[in-house]
Amino acid sequence: MSALQRCSRFNGVTARSTTGKWLLDTMKLRGSVIAGLGSYVPERILTNADLEKIVDTSDEWIVTHTGMKERRVIAEDQNTSDLAVEASKVALRDAGLAAEDLELIIVGTVTPDTVFPSASAILEDKLGAKRAASFDVVTGCTGFVDGMITGSQYVMTGGYDNVLVVAAEALTRVTNWEDRSTCVLFGDGAGAVVLQPDEAGKGLLGYAMDTQGFAGEALTIPSSGSAWPPDEKAIAENATKIYMNGHEIFRMAVRGIPHIAGLAMSKAGVTNEDIDWVVMHQANQRILDAAADRLGIERARVVSNLHKYGNTSAASMALAFDEIYRDGCLQTGDLVLLVGFGAGFCLSGAVVRWEKETPPR
Ligand code: UT7
Repeated sequence: MSALQRCSRFNGVTARSTTGKWLLDTMKLRGSVIAGLGSYVPERILTNADLEKIVDTSDEWIVTHTGMKERRVIAEDQNTSDLAVEASKVALRDAGLAAEDLELIIVGTVTPDTVFPSASAILEDKLGAKRAASFDVVTGCTGFVDGMITGSQYVMTGGYDNVLVVAAEALTRVTNWEDRSTCVLFGDGAGAVVLQPDEAGKGLLGYAMDTQGFAGEALTIPSSGSAWPPDEKAIAENATKIYMNGHEIFRMAVRGIPHIAGLAMSKAGVTNEDIDWVVMHQANQRILDAAADRLGIERARVVSNLHKYGNTSAASMALAFDEIYRDGCLQTGDLVLLVGFGAGFCLSGAVVRWEKETPPR
């Protein structure tokens, strides 16, 4: 007698698989490739000069300490899901797919419209992706690469053929505009990829993920969940906004990036000399440069667009990836090293071979 039959609360349940046959029949070893890529940023630009009017800062300080010059700010009548919709439409068009073709949607965000329904459920509805299942990944600035790694598991094992991974953020909605050490950093935007199956060994070649939870308090919104539901005190203390210990995160990022990137490259069976492009979380130009030097990869190969968009958390890597695609820099067969780091403290790396032959649609 099986465990299920012995358990009285399931008496009467007859339709079940006792062999896992469906799973075994479904599982295939396939490659997961990027079939479509797209991004979107809101129109409003917030420059360093604008920030000089809000807090005691200067263009010179922001540029020398971060490399940032401007960032985008979501419109009052937009929400994170609206940014996600726009990026998704571009990625779907690029893949030659309709929303109805999607089977799974994964959204990486720390600024969803609401805690629930999830950002991905709202996106499913707004896109009209009626056949799609959905869930969010809440891993801060690693959300895009984590979403790609996760979505690829479904593609590689035969579960789904059309997976949309979106990273979207409205960080300016949770920015503390009284804290000059953080408010100059963040911006809003979204990026998306469509993942599809191909021959085994194509697309995603290797990945590595790590969490160092002991450092969680270094980057957090203290009053954002059940531990401290937003109340008057939280609002008065700006505890519903981003708090960051910049030094701690900087130190962990510079130490962690070579570690996670090295693991991802070794799992992919490649070395730094094979890498054509590094798409890294856009937090600080000094971090990008330090990481390039430690990885032994030319700085020019480490994509940087933070001067235009600031730090858009999960969306930043998707925006950078899409930029080299739209600019015509990516060639079929190029190896792209993706490296994310951020709240958690989370670290993720992945090596992806660019398989697309068509230029952006
Ligand atoms: O996306 C998630 C991951 N996040 C990151 O990776 C961020 C990592 N951290 C960083 O990028 C940097 O630590 C920051 C950009 C946040 C800060 O740069 P920093 O070079 O570490 O500056 P600091 O915190 O050491 O501050 C140096 C000085 C301080 O003044 P004193 O104490 O030396 O007099 C700050 O008060 O700069 C002051 N300062 C500013 N001055 C003008 C801090 N923010 C500003 C500002 N404008 N916006």
